[in-house]
Amino acid sequence: MEKKWWHDKVAYQIYPKSFLDTNGDGIGDLRGIISKLDYLKKLGIDIIWLSPIYKSPFVDQGYDIADYYAIAEEFGTMEEFDELLAEAKKRDMHIIMDLVINHCSDKHEWFQKALADPDGAFADYFYFRKGKNGNPPSNYRSYFGGNCWEPVPGSDKYYFHMFAKEQPDLNWENPKLREEIYRMINWWLDKGLAGFRIDAIINIKKDLAFPDMEPDGDDGLASCWRMVENVEGVDALLEDLKNHTFAKKDAFTVGEVFNIGVEDLPDFIGENGHFSTIFDFSAHMLSDGKHGWYDAPPISFDAWKKAITDSQMRVQNVGFEANIIENHDEPRGVSRFLPDYAQNADGAKMLGTVSVLLRGIPFIYQGQEIGMQNARWNSVDEFDDISTKDQYRMAREAGLSDAEALAVCSAMSRDNARTPMQWKDAPQAGFTSGTPWLKVNDNYPVINVEKEEGQPDSVLHYYRKLIALRKSGEYRELFTYGKFEPAYENADHVMAYYRILQGRRVLVAANFGTDTIELDWEVPAKKVLLSNKKRTNAENKLILEKCEVFVTECK
Ligand code: GLC
Ligand code: CA
Repeated sequence: MEKKWWHDKVAYQIYPKSFLDTNGDGIGDLRGIISKLDYLKKLGIDIIWLSPIYKSPFVDQGYDIADYYAIAEEFGTMEEFDELLAEAKKRDMHIIMDLVINHCSDKHEWFQKALADPDGAFADYFYFRKGKNGNPPSNYRSYFGGNCWEPVPGSDKYYFHMFAKEQPDLNWENPKLREEIYRMINWWLDKGLAGFRIDAIINIKKDLAFPDMEPDGDDGLASCWRMVENVEGVDALLEDLKNHTFAKKDAFTVGEVFNIGVEDLPDFIGENGHFSTIFDFSAHMLSDGKHGWYDAPPISFDAWKKAITDSQMRVQNVGFEANIIENHDEPRGVSRFLPDYAQNADGAKMLGTVSVLLRGIPFIYQGQEIGMQNARWNSVDEFDDISTKDQYRMAREAGLSDAEALAVCSAMSRDNARTPMQWKDAPQAGFTSGTPWLKVNDNYPVINVEKEEGQPDSVLHYYRKLIALRKSGEYRELFTYGKFEPAYENADHVMAYYRILQGRRVLVAANFGTDTIELDWEVPAKKVLLSNKKRTNAENKLILEKCEVFVTECK
């Protein structure tokens, strides 16, 4: 396998709006990010992914871009962005941005021009279609609720949107549109960006016949992603995109890709795949409910373990996936994947170890490194997220009480990941001197960076050691290229695996149960490399206390 510059890197996702506010307007900003580069460097981060910072009306928190060439005023200026790039470079860190090109904002000038002339050239940057017998062109339900087709005012046409109606989908069949997008991507790469995280990218290929589908809800609509799942031809578009942009610059790309079959993996992340890597969402998709996430089924430990193990086995002969516990679209992993008794510092370290040492590129989401958890939500009015409001509405319509609907939103809302970063035990967790745009989690006096800096056994110190181990001279190759092999497969409550390279073998073992576990070694241990319980010697048996994780080199 040809080695790539990004194979052995550790990435960190910043959600700029919630990271650090330096001017008191309650919104995180670029200055805040610049001021924390040393913090991230010390954590061991190489690549920083910024969720969208482009000019936007923020209907979907910046995933609705009004100008691809401008920084949102809320976050700062282009000069500050250039400064961020330069400061990152000084520290040998790489910046990647979110690339949202399946859709733009309805405030983008292309869409404004399309609305002004629904038969003109700009209308063909989007999907403008006539209705059918007084109805929309087809019966698709958008991700955020309601029909995917929105009437174009003053015309007999509709435009297509898979997300909010303020996020019209871009027509990738139009070569002019593609050219505009490629020019924009190259402009950012020329500035010195290392690459992109690419949003909802599978959705760019549509079935141009937009056929009606069998309804899957009482509203008579069918989930729009089924159209995307059924259509062929996305590969050609993705290759075109890559060849006109990323490939020329050796850029790092990570695709937001759900649900591709194992037979498609080589096309996506093989040696010459469409992307450098794609996220592994297999554990997260265990929460997919029948109708959305308001009816998410609970996740069992065994299902979680199987999802991760299967995915590692599937991918390792093909390429690299990007491993996450959480991101800005998911609740906090500590609250979601750990049983109640493990939702504490030991559990956060255990979950972090199991994830960061997997084969693939680790992506740490802001606050994960201090063990941030879901917030407590007292009323639906406290949420900001467009998807949460929609799921709450659906839950109520399906007959859940207000308390029940609030409970599912509390467990699953994307806003759990979006509450402000907890820097210290000070008003608003030190995130802002003003009023934060989204409430601060009330556990900030206990979980915050400053406090954890002062505690040698904190989650933060542990994450530093964990990443340092992964990147250490001695183990870097093994954790980057070593084979993944499941270990102690039949032991209940145990998640364990080996990483193996050229005759060297390291074991990662964790006990997610409540009872101490004692097992005969499959392969005897030689040296403990990391432990969340101060274990320093490998015993003559494998012993794991409740919530214990350790990493050992094997004989
Ligand atoms: C992706 C983003 C999500 C956004 C959606 C629409 O899934 O991660 O935050 O709402 O795309 O752009
Ligand atoms: Ca600010």
